Amino acid sequence: MTAGKVIELRGVQQRFHARGTPSGYLTAVEDASFRLDAEPPQVVSLVGQSGSGKSTIARNVLGLQKPTAGTVTYGGKDIFKLSRAEHDEYRRNVQPVFQDPYSIFNPFYRVDRVLWKAVKKFDLATTREQGLAMIEESLQAVSLDPGRVLGRYPHQLSGGQRQRIMLARIHMLRPAFVIADEPVSMLDAQIRKMFLDILLDFQRDHGMTTLFITHDLSTVYYLGGQVMVINKGVIVERGPVTSVMHTPSHPYTRLLLDSIPQPDPDNRWTTRIKVDDEESLPPSDSQEVTPII
Ligand SMILES: Nc1ncnc2c1ncn2[C@@H]1O[C@H](COP(=O)(O)OP(=O)(O)OP(=O)(O)O)[C@@H](O)[C@H]1O
Ligand SMILES: [Mg+2]
Repeated sequence: MTAGKVIELRGVQQRFHARGTPSGYLTAVEDASFRLDAEPPQVVSLVGQSGSGKSTIARNVLGLQKPTAGTVTYGGKDIFKLSRAEHDEYRRNVQPVFQDPYSIFNPFYRVDRVLWKAVKKFDLATTREQGLAMIEESLQAVSLDPGRVLGRYPHQLSGGQRQRIMLARIHMLRPAFVIADEPVSMLDAQIRKMFLDILLDFQRDHGMTTLFITHDLSTVYYLGGQVMVINKGVIVERGPVTSVMHTPSHPYTRLLLDSIPQPDPDNRWTTRIKVDDEESLPPSDSQEVTPII
């Protein structure tokens, strides 16, 4: 199912109308080109500071936002022009994990529902017993005790547990690609490591390729694989994590590396970090920002 599957972005540009800016629009992604291969399974990180266009790219890849220029293809076909059957296959094979899964859960339903919905929507089991066995196995695969999480409401779980339920869902679906947008930003160091290890297990044991989006270079370093560095909507550097981090060639990558806090009170940051795109943001009273599509 996954062999030969490739997601490819070519010259992706995403502009949004933005009243109050000199040009009348804001360019979130200037020019993004890269490919994600299902074979061999890999982890590709996309790292950059806040506002650099990372989530916009995730939305382009997930088909939630059609780029204003350029293409996103899957197996050579434009994902915005897929037939219904092809679109369903894409939806099944390209699964998201977001920063805060709370919004995915309906507070009035037990968390089981998210998992049962996946079983039903994608026809994963023929009987209820089979479905339950699958759910339990997937919860165990992400170090959750089914007896302790099934039957609970979302607010009764910690953020790390909710996030791992989303991983259990992915474990059940076995997609070719996982698009993870800042999935560990709200987790403490220990749970963060557990989450990253599960993604690496998914790569090794189930052949999943992950696009891992983060602003945190230490997480990128832990994951290994390939990294792309994005600055103001442009991918400025890419390559194996170790070489990009040990011998960065772009000044922005060096700046990101220098911005990693040192656990040393005698070695504090001496320069103020400036978020460049603040200036280009529309005034706060201008709420009208709509995609140009
Ligand atoms: N729907 C939208 N309408 C208007 N502007 C948008 C929209 N989505 C994103 N932007 C703008 O595009 C730029 C890139 O946003 P994006 O969310 O992709 O950044 P990011 O790299 O994910 O940042 P963060 O690390 O803070 O999540 C920002 O300036 C943002 O304000
Ligand atoms: Mg983001």
